Amino acid sequence: MSAVKLLIFSGSTRQGSHNTKLATAVSALARDLGADVTHISLSDYLAPLFDPDWEKENGVPQTIIDLGALMTDADAAFIASPEYNSGQTPLLKNTIDWLSRLKPHPFKETLFSLGGASPGAMGGIRGMFSLRTTLVGLNAIVMPEQLTVGGAASAFNDDGSFANERSADFANVQLARTLDVARKLRA
Ligand SMILES: Cc1cc2nc3c(=O)[nH]c(=O)nc-3n(C[C@H](O)[C@H](O)[C@H](O)COP(=O)(O)O)c2cc1C
Repeated sequence: MSAVKLLIFSGSTRQGSHNTKLATAVSALARDLGADVTHISLSDYLAPLFDPDWEKENGVPQTIIDLGALMTDADAAFIASPEYNSGQTPLLKNTIDWLSRLKPHPFKETLFSLGGASPGAMGGIRGMFSLRTTLVGLNAIVMPEQLTVGGAASAFNDDGSFANERSADFANVQLARTLDVARKLRA
């Protein structure tokens, strides 16, 4: 059976983003587990703030059409999601709102696995619950496990790997489960 295609991106485009570092660390582990990883940055798929009148005049932006195609092509997607005021980032919500305008939209076809990194102790877990609610509302299948990385300022080594063995272990378990479920959904 061919390798599971795993799309990975961060919900932050901030320079030095902890969640982009998480996406990088997860990408390396997923490759070691045999996944065919595509790690993208949402900075290459930006769209204006969703506005129905703008959409009526201009249609769905090409960036969103391209991102939707990547998602449809993938078996699964891992999102490293920051928490903003107990919810998902406006960048993620805007991207998802735009993707939901594609016909058919790509959420039913993709298995999701969530993680988050935060300087706080909780690793952005409330942001992931918010993101999960949005994805499930779009009929996506979302893995029950979620990877929380607290104390994010010291959570990653300079080479991009996890500084903490426990985080790497949790990530490996969640990724292995995600790839396994993706294979079963594909069968
Ligand atoms: C508007 C705003 C709201 C935030 N709210 C939370 C929060 O509710 N919980 C939390 O753990 N961190 C919160 N933070 C801190 C972020 O976790 C922190 O800025 C983090 O570095 C963002 O992710 P990034 O490094 O991937 O950009 C907030 C940051 C901003 C800018």
